[in-house]
Amino acid sequence: MAHPASERDVDLAARRLRAGGLVAFPTETVYGLGADARNPDAVRAVFRLKGRPATNPLIVHVAGVEQARALCAGWPASADRLAERFWPGPLTIVLPRSGAVPDEVAAGGPTVALRCPDHPVALALLRAFGGPLVGPSANPSGGVSPTTAEHVRRAFDERDALVLDGGPCRVGIESTVVSLAHTPPRVLRAGAISAQDIADALGCDVETDAEAVDSAGRALFSPGRFASHYAPAAPAELLDRADLLAELAREGGTRRVAALVFEPVDVESVDGVAEILMSADAQAYAQRLYAALHEADETRPERILIERPLGAGALWDAVRDRLRRACAPRG
Ligand code: TXA
Ligand code: MG
Repeated sequence: MAHPASERDVDLAARRLRAGGLVAFPTETVYGLGADARNPDAVRAVFRLKGRPATNPLIVHVAGVEQARALCAGWPASADRLAERFWPGPLTIVLPRSGAVPDEVAAGGPTVALRCPDHPVALALLRAFGGPLVGPSANPSGGVSPTTAEHVRRAFDERDALVLDGGPCRVGIESTVVSLAHTPPRVLRAGAISAQDIADALGCDVETDAEAVDSAGRALFSPGRFASHYAPAAPAELLDRADLLAELAREGGTRRVAALVFEPVDVESVDGVAEILMSADAQAYAQRLYAALHEADETRPERILIERPLGAGALWDAVRDRLRRACAPRG
């Protein structure tokens, strides 16, 4: 059973970080793989453990605006407005970086991505450690993000990364990434905070390429520049319900199939199929999405079929973005 991180666990974790070690920590979005953002060796260890391409920069977690400022070449009024309105919370702000950010963190680029997470354990860790922490999602690169401590433990050895347990993540999908290094500001990754929320807070237009797709329906905006992301081990397909039911009728009982669906499917066709019921509520769906993909993988299916959500709204758009990537061909 999960045991929540105690003050002593947090202190031990902070000590591990000071020694250049790695600590997986809970946030409101997904679990992060933490390391001292000022220590290039520790940051390189994060890239190594995740198998992450050195060209993909890391988000830096901060305890608040004061720490964030020190990492930026300038802190505009727009950043203050966003931080006041959305921090701590699921918004990552990209700004030109200061000399305090190692090249490794920024993947050699001119900017840094900053976020103050809204989770008591993450904030306790940041306070105990007393400095900024890099925190990519605590999963092997390209795979499904972890939303429980158990997901992290299954992916990484405790000797490589200490895991702080903070229970299941509340939001369930990664933070919105907005660049203030662009004019007008630009949403680089969709999340629970919408482009409209950001535009309202700033009182200006905000561009979004979060929904840009190519002719094959693949997302183009990825800050990581990879179409395939958040991918389960088995190939996944996004289908309208009628097509999904037709596939199940064909495959049921003959191949191992896992299906994420909104309503139970006909019992006749369920034979040989692991059915995972999803909520029609966007928040509940997002909260459970990665756990559902992890569960689907555990049934060792040959295929994962996902019923396409048709709901309107920014959170559904963010969910569909993750689903498109989970289903994108790898390579
Ligand atoms: O919710 C989250 O943001 C989680 C939790 C742990 O905080 N973290 C997370 O990190 O999702 P990661 O590394 O899995 O995703 C970071 C994304 C990547 O797509 C990366 O390319 C982008 O943010 N990113 C990082 N630094 C950037 C920068 N300087 N400019 C543009 N994009 C950046
Ligand atoms: Mg990630």
